[in-house]
Amino acid sequence: MNLAILASGRGSNFTALVKAVQKGRIKARIKLLICDKSKAFVRKRARKLGIKECLVEPKYFKSRLDFDKKLVKILRSEKIDLVILAGYMRILTPYFVKSFKNKILNIHPAILPDFKGANSIKRAFDCGCKLTGVTVHFVDEKVDHGPIILQESIALKKEVGLVKLEQRIHKLEHKLYPLAVKLFVDKRLKVKKRKVEII
Ligand code: GAR
Repeated sequence: MNLAILASGRGSNFTALVKAVQKGRIKARIKLLICDKSKAFVRKRARKLGIKECLVEPKYFKSRLDFDKKLVKILRSEKIDLVILAGYMRILTPYFVKSFKNKILNIHPAILPDFKGANSIKRAFDCGCKLTGVTVHFVDEKVDHGPIILQESIALKKEVGLVKLEQRIHKLEHKLYPLAVKLFVDKRLKVKKRKVEII
């Protein structure tokens, strides 16, 4: 199975996924990274880890649709079976989502459907939640929405500050995302409307 990762930033989830493949835990091939930000640190990680890297910058496209058409073209030419969003901070157009229906995964640093969007860890922390966590889900047309694959919570004890919480969330992400990708690659995920069955 051929995988592509889309990312915009730091890339710690990208590295966790590449390492899981390199260690043989996920029996698939990461064919490329697509990044939309020229200065993103994830691009350095790709070069270091020997993953083909493709920079596609939105400023060269007239519309979101044109941009996504370019991405879909690249993904098709690489024969990609699964698209993995790892800190990819753009909203996919319906065209993109339909092109890879139930073949796009996303990770989100909160227990969806709460705290969708950006800065979720801080927003959960600031609102005094007793629990937060991580969600991995299939992507549909709405933002941070779509059938949930895995979810794990973290208790927010009063002695835990924001920095520590962020570290714990990321550590959990690096465990959950490779696990969810492995489930997909091993064909163990069955989607029925909003529900995902692990078989
Ligand atoms: C991760 O925490 C991921 O959950 C979040 O971006 C971060 C990327 O970190 N994604 C979202 O908030 C999506 N709504 P990374 O670049 O180190 O992998």
